[in-house]
Amino acid sequence: MKLAVIGSNMVDLTAYIHHMPAPGETLEAPDFSISCGGKGANQAVAAALCGAEAMMVSKVGSDLFADNTIENLKTFGIDTRYVTKASDASSGIASIFVDESGQNRILIVKGANDLLAPTDIDAAETELKACAMIILQLEVPLATVYHAIDFGRTHGVPVLLNPAPATKALDITKVCACDFFVPNETELSILTGLPMETLEDVEEAAKSLLVRGLKNIIVTLGGRGALWMTQKEKQYVAPYKVTAVDTTGAGDAFIGCFASEYAKGGDVLAAMKKASAFAALSVTHKGTQLSYPTQEELAIFLQKKAAE
Ligand code: RIB
Repeated sequence: MKLAVIGSNMVDLTAYIHHMPAPGETLEAPDFSISCGGKGANQAVAAALCGAEAMMVSKVGSDLFADNTIENLKTFGIDTRYVTKASDASSGIASIFVDESGQNRILIVKGANDLLAPTDIDAAETELKACAMIILQLEVPLATVYHAIDFGRTHGVPVLLNPAPATKALDITKVCACDFFVPNETELSILTGLPMETLEDVEEAAKSLLVRGLKNIIVTLGGRGALWMTQKEKQYVAPYKVTAVDTTGAGDAFIGCFASEYAKGGDVLAAMKKASAFAALSVTHKGTQLSYPTQEELAIFLQKKAAE
């Protein structure tokens, strides 16, 4: 079972801090790390760790980070034949602050990711047509995202869109053909302009997108679990209680694991439950890809949780 991620890669520069700096404040961070990230790459890595044969269509820059990014994907067994180098751009960079509660603030420089074009998708047509699912995010141009959705519809390949980072420029009518739309609550709020205080608020916001033509909406709610809504169904998946050290990339962990599991059996709820566990375990460690568990670690975690 093969999955394709058409999307971003970034170099994550993460500073671990006690609290977020106030405007004009200079703070010292007691810890720092450089690692491979980017929503697309994180999702591909999570899918690969959950047993999928993953490929990426992505763009790196012409700098010292480029080869390392490609090599890193290869270490997870990801097919990088369609990860190409842009000759006149930097690699994508994410500047991340993680505070003591594990919450993060992220600022991205898209760099080469902004040059991923519809033609890059067409170049991988043969391989993409053979995939069980295409996974997309919004760290690459919207035109490329729309083209990928049209490609999926034309060739009968299911598409999952993670609208992250959320932008009001996203044309919902152009993404209605995607099979799964997976925002977190912040993204859902930005896209709908609606509040997210209560679970009822989340449901109302999801409903407003269903009315506009989206089919399956899965909202990741962090410590509040996850919600799946269609025109006919509404299901909550309860969260796993863990102590969060770093929540960065947890949404990507959920999506990669969900796609991998769903592609195996087509069971949305079962895939959401496994994805919740995979993402919960990821927040107990620092980093994004580096925090994702192996299947053995996940099995031990699930056994432990079942015994509690
Ligand atoms: O979702 C987490 C990711 O967002 C980080 O890895 C960072 O690169 C940004 O893209």
